[in-house]
Amino acid sequence: MAALNELNVYAELLQHRQDMEDVSLRSLFENDPQRFDRFHQELDGLVFDYSKNLIQSSTMALLVRLAEEAGVPAAIQRMMEGERINETEDRAVLHVALRNLSERPIQVDGEDVMPKVNAVLSQMRILTDAVASGEWKGYTGERITDVVNIGIGGSDLGPLMVAEALRPYWREGLNVHFVSNIDGTHLAETLKKLRPETTLFVIVSKTFTTQETMTNARSARAWIIDALDSESHSAASLRSSRLKVTSPTVERHFVAVSTNVEGVRAFGIHPDNMLRFWDWVGGRYSTWSAVGLTAACAIGMDNFEDFLAGAHAVDRHFTSAPPAENVPVLMALLGVWYSNFWDAHAHAVLPYDQYLHRFAAHLQQLDMESNGKGVRIGGERIHDYETGPIIFGEPGTNGQHAFYQLIHQGTRMVPADFIAAAESQNPIGEHHEILLANFFAQTAALAFGKTEDEARAELQDAGMDAEKIESLVNHKIFTGNRPTNSFLMRKLTPRTLGMLLALYEHKVFVQGVLWGVNSFDQWGVELGKQLAKAIRHELAGDEVVESHDASTNGLIYRYKRWR
Ligand code: F6P
Repeated sequence: MAALNELNVYAELLQHRQDMEDVSLRSLFENDPQRFDRFHQELDGLVFDYSKNLIQSSTMALLVRLAEEAGVPAAIQRMMEGERINETEDRAVLHVALRNLSERPIQVDGEDVMPKVNAVLSQMRILTDAVASGEWKGYTGERITDVVNIGIGGSDLGPLMVAEALRPYWREGLNVHFVSNIDGTHLAETLKKLRPETTLFVIVSKTFTTQETMTNARSARAWIIDALDSESHSAASLRSSRLKVTSPTVERHFVAVSTNVEGVRAFGIHPDNMLRFWDWVGGRYSTWSAVGLTAACAIGMDNFEDFLAGAHAVDRHFTSAPPAENVPVLMALLGVWYSNFWDAHAHAVLPYDQYLHRFAAHLQQLDMESNGKGVRIGGERIHDYETGPIIFGEPGTNGQHAFYQLIHQGTRMVPADFIAAAESQNPIGEHHEILLANFFAQTAALAFGKTEDEARAELQDAGMDAEKIESLVNHKIFTGNRPTNSFLMRKLTPRTLGMLLALYEHKVFVQGVLWGVNSFDQWGVELGKQLAKAIRHELAGDEVVESHDASTNGLIYRYKRWR
């Protein structure tokens, strides 16, 4: 497949970008009262409005040609059919199978994976129901009140985001917590609030070798053993993580989600309490699998399956809608339009919903670990165009009072996605109306700005003298023309959350195809891991370390003096 900048339509898009230089969103809206109708899509309780983008119908026609020339429709089909599109790891990419409620057989190497996907879903239902009903008891016979997910990256961010987003759906009497950071503070602060007798740990790791997760898991195991195994009752808990390997208490207080059966067994977790997933599920795409177990404990399996159903509805749309009406394809094309033709480097994700407060964090891994690549699938280094943007975001209106200044008046273009629900989960007084007023106002302000004349008139109305007005007027101008997408849901439910997340997953996939990168490997995280392992050994003892550069040696020296 040709590189992005070698596609026939690329030169036409470059020219079109020049033609768009002086086109304003004000004039586009003034000249086309149908612009919202023209540039929005509606999917089953979710509106995607992309009319406040720097586009015309001709732009979209060129971008759709870009998708076609880059082979996006064929790539979608290859993914859905279980081809080994993760070429550098020689794996299929089939998170869609995890939410394939149609029961359509999905083959990997000639085997239909649906029976084992469904078997794990049943296992999740049995386990989550047993925990919620109190049938699952801790070692001392008490029911479980707290479930702690120990994982990192895709084994943490996805389930954490889902659990937080769906808090209104949490079952009574059960709390869930997430520990990811190797910093002992994360585990210690979480455990402070909990009792070993009533705590269940879910150790989530695709590999079951990740240093952070295994270190936290061993410390959690020591905490349980020290508290509940009578003979070791007095042992110092968090510092004694290697004292014991297995114990009956471990079997009652630990379950695992992994692809690594041997690793789980060696840790002391009973094989019956292990939920499997498979190498064709990438970590950052794994929330739909048993990796979502902790979230499923919180919301129950019926809600978890609604979450899967929302994603499945989007999968059907993604595979059947033509590119010009295909929401993830449109999201991807608009992103490429700004990254590759307008020199935008970042993309903001701004949910006007407090429950989505970890959504941007999850998308950071999803997008940046997938498309933060500088080499094409075939191995050629990419010199001539940019790939994945920097993803960031916070819930509105907090972001408004923090970083929106740059988005409104800075020198850089930062395309942004605004997300809101029409119905509040917590309708207190006027809160939701005010929240939504801000949601609508921000995209309008970014698109249409404030002209010099408007700024001048405002200052005059405020009674300012001419000299003061001259000194202030440029600061008060908003250039506008700052592009946004708006997602408006009827309500944030398990189903709409599943839809939203699946839209972003497929957007990332399509962008990977357009940029020609493999969105499903992550070699870039390896070097730091390797070096940390080497340095870890050098930190033992007081000897001066001289094996690195002067900066690293100097910092290690200070650390050894001060610790
Ligand atoms: O460090 C990168 C990474 O491999 C992620 O892709 C993954 O989600 C995370 O580490 C955790 O990996 P595991 O689930 O194997 O512990």
